[in-house]
Amino acid sequence: MTAVGPRLGILGGGQLARMLAESAMRHGLRVAVLAEAADAPAAIPGVDLVLGALDEPAALEALAARCDVLTVENEFLDLDRLGAVVARHPSVHLHPSRPAIALAQDKLEQKRVFSRLGIPTAEYTLVRVASLDDDLRRAAGRFPGGFVLKWSRFGYDGRGNRVVGRPGAAERDAIAEFCRAGEAAGATIYAERRVDFAAEVAMVSTRAHDGRQVFFPLVVSRQDHGVCREVFGPATAFGVAADIERDVAGHMAALATDLDYCGTFAVEWFIDRDGALLANEMAPRVHNTGHYTLFGDEPSQFDLHVQAVTGRPLSAPAVRDPFVMRNLLGPFSLRGAHPCPAPSEPPPAGTLLYWYDKRTVSAGRKMGHLTGRAAIAGAIERMRDALRDYERRFWAGLSFERQGT
Ligand SMILES: Nc1ncnc2c1ncn2[C@@H]1O[C@H](COP(=O)(O)OP(=O)(O)O)[C@@H](O)[C@H]1O
Ligand SMILES: [Mg+2]
Repeated sequence: MTAVGPRLGILGGGQLARMLAESAMRHGLRVAVLAEAADAPAAIPGVDLVLGALDEPAALEALAARCDVLTVENEFLDLDRLGAVVARHPSVHLHPSRPAIALAQDKLEQKRVFSRLGIPTAEYTLVRVASLDDDLRRAAGRFPGGFVLKWSRFGYDGRGNRVVGRPGAAERDAIAEFCRAGEAAGATIYAERRVDFAAEVAMVSTRAHDGRQVFFPLVVSRQDHGVCREVFGPATAFGVAADIERDVAGHMAALATDLDYCGTFAVEWFIDRDGALLANEMAPRVHNTGHYTLFGDEPSQFDLHVQAVTGRPLSAPAVRDPFVMRNLLGPFSLRGAHPCPAPSEPPPAGTLLYWYDKRTVSAGRKMGHLTGRAAIAGAIERMRDALRDYERRFWAGLSFERQGT
């Protein structure tokens, strides 16, 4: 196929960039990827690879020179450098916009924006190293059920978060170290009420230039050590009230309109024991909780993103059967990085394995994912067990796991 459409540049070379690039090439687009290594997951055949770091001006310049549209797989970017490069290429469009990416970089700012838009979010209080003991006492008094200390910036996959129960003397030192490291990196620290949630849910949505917005179903997510482990849904097939899904979509419309957002984005939520909804955080990109859209026969979150950022008409997400997605995560007991082959056992009947072709595995690293769907929610329960057992056998079969290193 001869590519004639806009040339798409993706900042970042991980699995999200790989799945975006696959979709863009199916749309007939030429794709360039800025990645740090020639064996990055997104370095797939057909992709024009620009080697370099995401904050390296020459690499950003090389990417921009090849593209009409730039997009991101990762919000941890140097927005000043990126802005300077984009300003030198007036015909190159960056989607989502710099303000949208900037918002995603700062969880505290997100909470302020959520509040301004009437989107409920858990209460918090600021914590400073200079007044640590007073601030921790105040937080403990205000949040007797415990709290989570968070860095406003630089956190992901559970990093930059620390759950606090009743701080004892030993824990006080670890907390101080956590706060000092956050402040040294340039983050503000805050204590957020620990939410005794009944479920964590998430929604992926895509908004086009012209303001048209489509919504994928609300899904349930489960985390392990703060990392997404499993997603299933639609949430309404698993006991979540339809008006919660409606409220989430309404809030996501308000947020996207406020940002004049272009592209796919996701928001993570808590549903507390009283059934109340609280926004956790947003991501300005395709999202792990939307990987279940990749069955190949329906528009995926990646297709919708490509359509939005290149100004093509958006497909309507299809109504879906119950589904499950399981991340293959490096065992949390692992120390260091180990070479890791792809699984050789076929995935359970009716499921698909996406392997990201990362050379090495380390604790909690996302190595691939499995998806399955069924006509009824009850069958998904069995599929979830089968996927968990499949993953268990895979790690157990690798020598570094057997050695317990
Ligand atoms: N206030 C909270 N109360 C209870 N659990 C929380 C809270 N904040 C975060 N968590 C747990 O930690 C996970 C990761 O936190 P999150 O703020 O989403 O950070 P990350 O950027 O690492 O995804 C959440 O998915 C949730 O399971
Ligand atoms: Mg999160």
